[in-house]
Amino acid sequence: SISFLNGDYMPLEEARISPLDRGFLFGDGIYEVIPYYKGKSVGLMPHIERMINGLAAIEIKCTKTADEWKELLDDLVARNESMGDNLGVYVHVSRGADVKRYHPYPEGVEPTVFCFCFNIKDPEPVDRTKVTQYSLVSTEDLRWQRCHIKSTALLGNVIHFQEGYSSGADEALLYNANGELTEGSSCNAFIVKDGIIATPIQDNQILPGITRRIILDSLKADGSLQVEERTITMDEVRDADEIWITSSSKEIAPVTKLDGKPVGDGSVGEIWEKAFAIYTASKY
Ligand code: PDD
Repeated sequence: SISFLNGDYMPLEEARISPLDRGFLFGDGIYEVIPYYKGKSVGLMPHIERMINGLAAIEIKCTKTADEWKELLDDLVARNESMGDNLGVYVHVSRGADVKRYHPYPEGVEPTVFCFCFNIKDPEPVDRTKVTQYSLVSTEDLRWQRCHIKSTALLGNVIHFQEGYSSGADEALLYNANGELTEGSSCNAFIVKDGIIATPIQDNQILPGITRRIILDSLKADGSLQVEERTITMDEVRDADEIWITSSSKEIAPVTKLDGKPVGDGSVGEIWEKAFAIYTASKY
């Protein structure tokens, strides 16, 4: 596949960065993952805006405008058309390579910009009898207090993901010290109880997911389902009729098992199917 590194296009396996790059030494960078289906992106501008906000939040001075990013990413996907119909684009901006390892933000160092494409799965069918079901384990969220920044420093997330993976689950569902739901280690979370959909409010404890945003916008525009952003306790999660996890690569994925126990009646819920149909028809 063709990757982009600091203004040049090259085969991915030929891309090289300095070991003094602060992305490598400190995880000092911001990233995005954007899905493209048959060349058409989902949530492209919101993804770009989140990245520009993240870069500003940690004072990485990258001068590309949103339109320049759009052009670069659309162009990279076009160059990789032969890879397949469904591509994820990984975009990474680190603070760049200094001449020494030194904690403060360096002056006059150019950020490193790296992008590549990878294959993602076909969208799932809007059919509760055929969709892939997920199994989760819950664990206390021991990441950091700045989860709203999409930082490349993902060790906290990776440790939690591995907790789920090594116990045979697909993801870890995280809760804070007050026993309140935050999100998954690489996704946002929703619950459904008595037909009402709820998801945690957007604060420093979660990533402001683009898929989450598109779901909320499309459900509100449609108006047939009730949806709330609010604090959700783990007691409510365990008592929920449905649990969903959402991300750019998973879209809306139904969870039918939590900590080895069935969610609701153990099958994919009716509200999932309605919500996924609304999302699929209106995703932007
Ligand atoms: N993960 N929360 C976390 C911690 C995430 O890492 C992600 C995305 C999300 C969902 O955000 P979005 O809907 O914008 O993809 C929520 C990406 C896909 C990843 O790290 O691969």
